[in-house]
Amino acid sequence: MSLENRVLSGYVPQHIAIIMDGNGRWAKKRSLPRTNLKNIALVCNEIGIKALSVYAFSTENWNRPKEEVDYLMDLPKEFEETFKGKFKEKNIRVMFSGRRDRFPEHVIELIERVEEKTKDRTGLILNICFDYGSYTEITDGVKEIVKEVQSNKLSIDDITPEIIGNHLYTKDLPKLDLMIRTSGEERISNFLLWQIAYSEFYFAKKHWPAFGRKELFKALDNFQKRNRRFGGLKE
Ligand code: IPE
Ligand code: MG
Repeated sequence: MSLENRVLSGYVPQHIAIIMDGNGRWAKKRSLPRTNLKNIALVCNEIGIKALSVYAFSTENWNRPKEEVDYLMDLPKEFEETFKGKFKEKNIRVMFSGRRDRFPEHVIELIERVEEKTKDRTGLILNICFDYGSYTEITDGVKEIVKEVQSNKLSIDDITPEIIGNHLYTKDLPKLDLMIRTSGEERISNFLLWQIAYSEFYFAKKHWPAFGRKELFKALDNFQKRNRRFGGLKE
């Protein structure tokens, strides 16, 4: 059986996340990262994955040189153009997770426009994490919960892990099954810290622009061979 058929006959994860590392040489490879994201999203949609969360810009990435921050700020516009047509045809929804108070006005407008336009689509949810960091996500969630307690909408004893999960950007997405990082680094860099509680990890040597269909299937094949116990005993 081919690798693809083997993967498709097994459990296909509901939600995967990718730390798209290894685009360092932005200037030279400008066209690659976005095209790659489009292709990977289309493959995920094709094989029935429900959600794909990708790390495009972290809350710490503002500390990079201005030229690179400027380039990264243009990504949503490039995404919008790259996704046109095919995403509509395939019914793919796009959402953004992250802070919205540090972007130029045109970036906020674009994000809102894309989300509004695609919100009723029922295919893959592509969750683009942009000015995203887990510390901020969890801190903001905690603030919301405290507000609800202060206004008597919620009592302290009602705060459960589910309540906390419902105050994170990923509240409408399935549980995270698999976290992939490209480019050989093996760290999380403040990405989805709450959501990875029982995720499997896969670290790929390939840089993000070279991570294509075949590498994704390799990651899924590897994932399917794991024995997930969720704290219980071996099945
Ligand atoms: C993670 O990579 C964030 C993105 C891929 C957007 P970083 O380059 O920001 O993180 P470190 O510094 O390697 O940990
Ligand atoms: Mg890095």
